[in-house]
Amino acid sequence: MPATAAPKGIPFGAAIQSEHFEDTSYRDLFARECDLVLPMNELKFALVQPERGQFDFSRADRLLDFCRDNGKTARGTTFVWYSTNPAWVEAIEDPVELERALVDHIERVADHCKGRLTSWDVVNEVIAHEPEENGGPLRDTFWLRRLGPRHIPIAFVAASRADPKAKMVLNEYDLEFRGPRFDQRRAIALSIVRQLQDAGIRIDAAGLQAHLYAHQEIDVEALARFGADLKALGVGILTTELDVIDFQVPGGPEEIDRAAAKVVGDYLDGLLGGQRPETVITWGLTDRYNWVEDVMPRGDGQPCRPLPFDADLRPKAWYGDLRRRLAQG
Ligand code: G3I
Repeated sequence: MPATAAPKGIPFGAAIQSEHFEDTSYRDLFARECDLVLPMNELKFALVQPERGQFDFSRADRLLDFCRDNGKTARGTTFVWYSTNPAWVEAIEDPVELERALVDHIERVADHCKGRLTSWDVVNEVIAHEPEENGGPLRDTFWLRRLGPRHIPIAFVAASRADPKAKMVLNEYDLEFRGPRFDQRRAIALSIVRQLQDAGIRIDAAGLQAHLYAHQEIDVEALARFGADLKALGVGILTTELDVIDFQVPGGPEEIDRAAAKVVGDYLDGLLGGQRPETVITWGLTDRYNWVEDVMPRGDGQPCRPLPFDADLRPKAWYGDLRRRLAQG
């Protein structure tokens, strides 16, 4: 048993990328540190079914084989998302045909992965970015425009039928911070859960992505209440994509890591205050490879430091704190 693995506590996981898999020190880090490993992109619609009826599971299978060979559990992301869809799906105008394409995709992919994934992000980022300005609770996507809000229950029904043992998850970002916009987004998430339940459709958990802005305040009480409200509905919680976005934190690595420790600590206070999370997953494991650098780089030219290990694979202090708290859970 690796020294850092948590045998009894809350499982720790991280998202892995197949394009870096040849970097053995990267791969070994996942083998050593994680209880759960998930393919970051390899199960997204466009990668699995780039052309209609042509499925490519090679990248995902390689990663899932790695999980199996190393005794790790895994989870899947995602079926319904506004991004990373193949052109052929977005070109389908007819709702009946689009529904059939979605259900076929879910059945085929869920069936292929059956027994290897503990849960699926059935829908990802379906809540409006700014509900008040965006004119409704749901994000304006081609799924919504062509199928209406029922694209959410359609996906949950198809996925839970295709893999009855995997947990069905609503995955979402920006549920962690203080302010009216975040209150609205938490309320919308709860209402989606209730609507599915009222229709007799299985939803097992809400996934908090937890892309944490180091300059933004976590609403510890509201987050704990959100977890408790889900618990009262019989729905679990998990952290699916934790990392720290530091472009607004001045200073060098020490200041950045201190700010990261604060925001991660506050986040864990809120998360653990609501109900016991099923797992906590980071979106990558080392700063060597991260999406934040591409999308929200620092203005001062320093590399950003979003993940538990730095680019030289040295652990940050906040990672030790995180693992200690999970081990107690
Ligand atoms: O691997 C190819 C490479 O061969 C090619 O040369 C290059 C040129 O564009 O693209 C590379 O693929 C990129 C892939 O990431 C791997 O790095 C894709 O273009 C790029 O679109 C893809 O971005 C991913 C993004 O989701 C879109 O699917 C990011 O890695 C991934 O971190 C990001 O993850 C999302 C979550 O799914 C949802 N929550 C937010 C999170 C961050 O945006």
